[in-house]
Order: sequence, then structure tokens, then C-alpha cells
Amino acid sequence: MSQLSAIVIGANSGLSQALALELAKDNVRLGLMAADIDALAPLAEQLGPQTELVAIDIQDPEACRAAFDALWAQLDGAALVVINTAAAGLDLELPWALDKGVIDVNVTGFTALANAAFNHMVEQKYGQLAALTSIAGERGGPQVAFHASKAFQQNYLQGLRLHAQRLKLPITVSDLRLGYLEKMQGRGSRFWAAPLPKIAGQITRALKKARPTTYVTRRWRFISWLTALLPEFVYNKRKYKG
Ligand SMILES: NC(=O)c1ccc[n+]([C@@H]2O[C@H](COP(=O)([O-])OP(=O)(O)OC[C@H]3O[C@@H](n4cnc5c(N)ncnc54)[C@H](OP(=O)(O)O)[C@@H]3O)[C@@H](O)[C@H]2O)c1
Repeated sequence: MSQLSAIVIGANSGLSQALALELAKDNVRLGLMAADIDALAPLAEQLGPQTELVAIDIQDPEACRAAFDALWAQLDGAALVVINTAAAGLDLELPWALDKGVIDVNVTGFTALANAAFNHMVEQKYGQLAALTSIAGERGGPQVAFHASKAFQQNYLQGLRLHAQRLKLPITVSDLRLGYLEKMQGRGSRFWAAPLPKIAGQITRALKKARPTTYVTRRWRFISWLTALLPEFVYNKRKYKG
């Protein structure tokens, strides 16, 4: 049987690296795309010589799509594409530059790559497209553009799922909805945060089950349910720090 390939976009984050190592355990050949590929050298060494590294600037969507096309050809297709690039930030002055940066990366850049990956999978007639979104996308919040951009991603993924069904193709689209893990880690909560290998393990198991939406870690599904129940006047009184 020929070796499966996967592409991880935004490969420099700790979570992407943990995920790449999980995928490599299943003998998956990896194509890693990141802003700073020099920083990927130690990971690439662990993954082996077949690993492909590609530099991208997600703020240049056309160049990103061209780089993705070239990597796809080099790997001779891919069974899995994971999009993990993201920009975020909180500034209570709500500067336009912050919102624009978030939209460039999380909306325009994300769509440029999700669209490229999906169309390649249609041509290939199978595949799995996954993206790390956030529970933040389910309701507006203090990082205004970040919350809105994650809502966009979740909605876009749902639309792609609908197209896969229309085309009657075995293309799975997975929305991996992360809780506020780093924030909780910062607060010292072991219950609501989790170590990276545990998060990566839950993600790879969810990918294998091909579930449309998965909460990572699983207990964040409860917070999602609770957040949806809160009436507007209560939700808007939430306290947060700038
Ligand atoms: N960590 C959390 O608690 C949490 C919570 C909810 C949702 N999430 C979501 O989960 C995903 C991963 O989170 P994370 O904490 O691992 O994110 P992160 O550390 O901020 O990583 C984001 C990735 O995006 C890439 N990136 C950002 N701007 C870029 C640009 N202009 N060009 C190319 N790449 C760019 C970075 O690449 P370089 O390193 O090469 O610059 C990095 O690999 C994100 O989608 C995030 O929104 C995370």
C-alpha cells in the first residue's frame, strides 16, 4: 500500500508540531507550510527526510495558493489537509489594524487555502479537510474580529461539507473546535487546559472518526452548550481583562 500524505498549514505552532508527530506515528508523509520554515528544522529532523517544508505568508493569498498547488503536486496529492494558521489579539481601543490583520489571516487566508484544498480533493475524488476553529466562533466576544472570523470558518466548513455531499464524494470536512486552552493554562487550570500531546491525540482520534464537529478537549462541549443558553443581557455582562 502506498504511503498516505498530509499537509499541515501553520506548522510552527506547538499544537501543529504535536499533531505532525501524532500523524507521523501512523507513517504519514508530511508537507508542512509555515511562515518561518527555518524554525521547523528540529521537527523536520524528527519526522524524517521525506518531509516537505514550504514557506508561506498567509497575508498573500494568491502566493499561498500557488505554494499549496506546488506542494500538492510534489506529494502527489494528500489524504488530509489541516489548517491551523490564525491571528488573534485583544485591544479595548478596537484598532482597525488589528481587525484587518485577523480578517486577512483567518478569513481571506483561510478561505484561499480551504478552497484550494477542497478543489484538489474534488479532483482527487477523496480527502479530509480539517481546520482548528474555536468555541469563540459560537458567539461574539471581546476579541471582536477573532470571534467573528472563527464563526466565518465554521460556516465555510459547513458549506464545503454540503458541497461534498452534493458531489457524492467521500470528502470529509472536520471542524475541530478548541476551547480557550491557552487562557486556562495561563490561569493554571488543569481541568480546562490540557497538555499538547493530549490535545493532539484527541484531534487525531477525532479525524479518524471523521466527525463533522469535535470539541477539543471534549469537556468544552459543555461550555458551548452553556454559552448558547445564556440570555443576551447576562452574556453581555461577562467580565474580561484588556
Ligand atoms: N491555543 C488556544 O488556546 C486556542 C484556543 C482556541 C482556538 N485556537 C485555534 O487553534 C489553532 C491553533 O492555535 P495555536 O495556539 O496553536 O495558534 P498559534 O500558536 O497562534 O499559531 C498560529 C499559526 O498561524 C501561523 N501564522 C500566523 N500568521 C501567519 C502568516 N501571516 N503567514 C503564515 N503563517 C501565519 C503561525 O505560523 P508561524 O509560527 O510560522 O508564524 C502559527 O503556526 C488556531 O486556529 C487558533 O485560533 C487555539
